[in-house]
Amino acid sequence: ASANIGVVGLAVMGSNLARNLASREGNTVAVLNRSRAKTDELVAAHPEAQFVPAFSYEEFAASLQKPRTAIIMVKAGGPTDAVIDELVKVFEPGDIIVDGGNAYFPDTIRREKAVRSTGINYVGAGISGGEEGALLGPSIMPGGSDESWVTLGPILRSIAAVAEGEPCVTHIGHNGAGHFVKMVHNGIEYADMQLIAEAYDLIRRGTGKTPAQIADIFAEWNRGELESYLIEITAEVLRQVDATTSLPLVDVILDQAGAKGTGAWTVQTALALGTPVSGIAEATFARSLSSHPEQRAVAASLPGPAEAFQVPEDQVDAFIEDVRLALYASKIVAYSQGFDEIRAGAAEYDWTIDLGAVSKIWRGGCIIRAQFLNRIADAYAESPELPVLMTAPYFAEALARGQAAWRRVVVAAAQAGIPAPAFSSSLSYYDGLRADRLPAALVQGQRDFFGAHTYKRVDKEGTFHTLWSGDRSEVEAEDTH
Ligand code: 6PG
Repeated sequence: ASANIGVVGLAVMGSNLARNLASREGNTVAVLNRSRAKTDELVAAHPEAQFVPAFSYEEFAASLQKPRTAIIMVKAGGPTDAVIDELVKVFEPGDIIVDGGNAYFPDTIRREKAVRSTGINYVGAGISGGEEGALLGPSIMPGGSDESWVTLGPILRSIAAVAEGEPCVTHIGHNGAGHFVKMVHNGIEYADMQLIAEAYDLIRRGTGKTPAQIADIFAEWNRGELESYLIEITAEVLRQVDATTSLPLVDVILDQAGAKGTGAWTVQTALALGTPVSGIAEATFARSLSSHPEQRAVAASLPGPAEAFQVPEDQVDAFIEDVRLALYASKIVAYSQGFDEIRAGAAEYDWTIDLGAVSKIWRGGCIIRAQFLNRIADAYAESPELPVLMTAPYFAEALARGQAAWRRVVVAAAQAGIPAPAFSSSLSYYDGLRADRLPAALVQGQRDFFGAHTYKRVDKEGTFHTLWSGDRSEVEAEDTH
């Protein structure tokens, strides 16, 4: 046995991760793939790398030093279960199976339980950063037992991205905690992308600037507080010209956004937890809305505003600055909601998750990497139990600075008939959470009226019901929620 780590599944992510592992001092990497061709290809293309090709699970297990450690990089769902079944047959108690795919965290909880009963450790690890990240340094979010972290920690630290001198990996928590946090990462990714898309749309339709000109605006924004990978690549995408038509590529790409499901999981989970991740939800629904061409075709005849939207020439710069501030404020809300979901998930599933550590490992390697994550880390360092991230002094100040602009942009979008679901839902969340009184009181009254669902009073303890179909006097009632 000569390998200290193995990778199963050599599609792009898997082979890039195997190459990353092999490039680090001291690592020898066993590699296995369902079809032999990919393994041969990888090994032949990288003669410099310390690979040990295996062509069966038995060979793979035999080539690994104990405790054996294998990272599975295959499709989530059935293919992952199939590989786990094979590994469990050839591994021994104390060995470690890592699932590096985008698994749905309840699957990870189930698999961890089943594999643990054999004495083998099972670690669901979220890995972010796409193909390039896998090769050069991803952000890694591992769950699983403390015991497996002892072996796995140094290996994962050696391949992770580095942000401000620190590797972008930390032991998130037990069983499904890593995949849970990766799921929320993707939900925030959806929100971030949608907010950027709304900012682009408003500027383009409001000012008539070309995609290339808007690319310059994003490049400029990327030098300030919005600095992030997604803003950076947005400028690149907007600047791209299509070779066949010579049009901006963004005008040639079909406007129907796809999704592989992680955003929807974030929203479904949030609904179950009772955590209002409205910005993430709107971003997910915006993709769904875009992907119904049959509905869009019939709805295209519905009327919009009477007047065309045109920001006056002398107000263009101010409008763009308003959009920038609205984007920043909405982004703060998206992260605040995402961290709220992680906090609620940790409470529900009994994980101890260090929110500051999560923000730190997102500073490098992952898709949502951004300057701004340093500020989140600061906020949790100062106040680990912070109930609402956006109330931390730095963010509260940024929201105070941006809120007037944010409101102008949402008003402009509504008047112009330009959909800005993530901008406007984020603003509603902000106003909802900071409200003294909410019309939830009326909803409680309605519930009590038609279903005797009862209500609490502001002025005394207890649970009450009004005899709506009787004399409308109030009685004490059992608490039914
Ligand atoms: C990452 C990405 C990665 C994947 C997205 C794409 O962190 O590296 O999030 O996991 O590219 O899941 O998701 P959609 O196909 O749903 O947009």
